[in-house]
Amino acid sequence: MRRALFMYVCLCEGVTDNQIRDAIFEGCCSYRDVRTTLGVASQCGKCACLAKQVVRDTLSEVQSSQAALAYPANFVAA
Ligand code: FES
Repeated sequence: MRRALFMYVCLCEGVTDNQIRDAIFEGCCSYRDVRTTLGVASQCGKCACLAKQVVRDTLSEVQSSQAALAYPANFVAA
């Protein structure tokens, strides 16, 4: 689901939190992957902490939604 609001995480590269989330949903699975793909934190580096936090939050969101799919609440063994 795409969020209507966004914030810039990396001003040097013009990268938003939504772009970081999209990169993860499209296959990036670590901060390093996101950094390589989007160039976040590749200039002054001031955005590194926030970028890592967005990556961490998004990865845990993805993991919990995958867990929900693997074990649906209404699953009944026949
Ligand atoms: S704000 Fe991200 S590298 Fe400068």
